[in-house]
Amino acid sequence: MIKKLIPVLILILFFNCKETVKKSEINPTKRGLVTDKAMVVSARKEASKIGTEIMKLGGNAFDAMMATEMALAVTYPYAGNLGGGGFLVYRMADGEVGALDYREKAPLAAIKGMYLDEDGNIIKGKSTLGSLAIGVPGTIAGVFKAQERFGHLDIVTILKPVIELAENGFTITQKQELRFKGYDSLFKVINGKEILFNKNQSAGKKLKNLALTETLKRISKNGRDEFYKGETAQKLIAHLKEKGSIITMEDLARYEAKWRKPIQFQYDDLTITSMSPPSSGGICLNQIMSMVEDFDLSNYGHNSLKTIQVLVEAEKRSYADRSYYLGDPDFIEIPIETLTSDVYLHERIKDFSFEKATPVDSISHGEIVGYESEETTHYSIVDQFGNAVAVTTTLNGGYGSKVYADELGFFLNNEMDDFSSKPGEPNYYGLIGAEANSIAPEKRMLSSMTPTIVEKDGELYMSVGTPGGSTIITSVLQTILNVHEFDMTMQEAVNAPRFHNQWLPDEIRMEPNSFDKKTIKELEARDYTINERRSPIIGIVDGILILDNGKLEGGADKRGDDTAMGF
Ligand code: DON
Repeated sequence: MIKKLIPVLILILFFNCKETVKKSEINPTKRGLVTDKAMVVSARKEASKIGTEIMKLGGNAFDAMMATEMALAVTYPYAGNLGGGGFLVYRMADGEVGALDYREKAPLAAIKGMYLDEDGNIIKGKSTLGSLAIGVPGTIAGVFKAQERFGHLDIVTILKPVIELAENGFTITQKQELRFKGYDSLFKVINGKEILFNKNQSAGKKLKNLALTETLKRISKNGRDEFYKGETAQKLIAHLKEKGSIITMEDLARYEAKWRKPIQFQYDDLTITSMSPPSSGGICLNQIMSMVEDFDLSNYGHNSLKTIQVLVEAEKRSYADRSYYLGDPDFIEIPIETLTSDVYLHERIKDFSFEKATPVDSISHGEIVGYESEETTHYSIVDQFGNAVAVTTTLNGGYGSKVYADELGFFLNNEMDDFSSKPGEPNYYGLIGAEANSIAPEKRMLSSMTPTIVEKDGELYMSVGTPGGSTIITSVLQTILNVHEFDMTMQEAVNAPRFHNQWLPDEIRMEPNSFDKKTIKELEARDYTINERRSPIIGIVDGILILDNGKLEGGADKRGDDTAMGF
């Protein structure tokens, strides 16, 4: 009897296995790091390590967030920061989701035309370089607010390994050396002297930041207010005043990070939670994904002609809306419900055709009745308790305004350039803005940062995000689709070649030498302009995927020094 059953049992086993093995698990070498319970993926291995160690000490994702963010400020001054701001999107183990806005604000003395000359023309460089480009920093307020509400450990324990890292030094990478060399002369011009980060700092050498060590020690001892009201605040303002900044002690004292209701929407069986205004990330991701949901992307194929066309046309329409409707929700009315409603979005994509590109001048923002009116970094963390965070933080451009507070050991942002200095004029990322994103005292500038958490069938599925200015939204979009529609592993999904369209300029930006020549020709035949020039800003995506067996897979983008770690 048993003997007779054996072939049947083998068959049952075979079919069961086949069902549970996903296509991408057939080749496990394509997976990133897989761990059992907890993981940090960030732009630097030291930061991922410190975040992981904090969780090993019993800390949760919010303790690890503070440690990782501060360790990035030490090891990755290009974007990691104390002098910038960011956004957090979280999902607790019980399914509760939320978002924290620690975006920079315009100083009290800021005025609408502050970057224009007498004739109303933009003064080149004024919103991107030097002291007037700086917004009031939000990072310390943000990490403290998140940790205070949800964290388990005390600040001294969390900051101890970070302070040791700043004091003992970290190893300069090849990519870092190139950047220090590239920016050296600009640092000298803006700061009037050579700073710690300069052309003599070469790969393999240890870099200690003793000024930052002292700043972190004071913050560890005195808490959040050390940065906004204490000795650090005084030193910062004295330095900024000398450099001609309009930021005052009052600006720092009035800064508050804010809890926001995140944007949440469905795409097939996924529930996607992403950042709400003052970031455009969540709304645009929602708009684009809803516009493309009815197209059979998985059948068209990854980076195929049809997939590129559908995504590009949805992106165009969404970025046109972004430029008109979005800004700081504390200052303007944003018609979020309409902008993300199925009726509106169906109407918006209705004229799409596979035959020809929709001309950009025929796409303005959609009509809504009754409506008046390089460098960033992302890290994802999942902890051993099942909580997940997605955090994107930035100085805006590489090393921000290039203004370096040498006594404190950090750079200041140039986030003011994310405002629309003049309606219709592009900013550094080529983004066009309007009244909704004009400058006003204490207003937050519109962002594209898109820290995102994805659930599948009500369970945590992915934490993902990226730097890349205007390309952030489309990079996050493609990464989610790569996993969901094209069955890639997390690592494959973050490494896959990306393209981008933002309505204006009228072009599809593509990573050079990564797309099929025939597809490019076919796109050009349909009136699309392709830009394959090398561009540093098409994202460095980091993400964590929850596998069918409950383990975690890290996706650390090959484009940076990014690393996944965990246990
Ligand atoms: O908030 C924003 O959208 C920009 N300040 C982000 C800048 C950025 O991603 C630079 N990285 N390449």
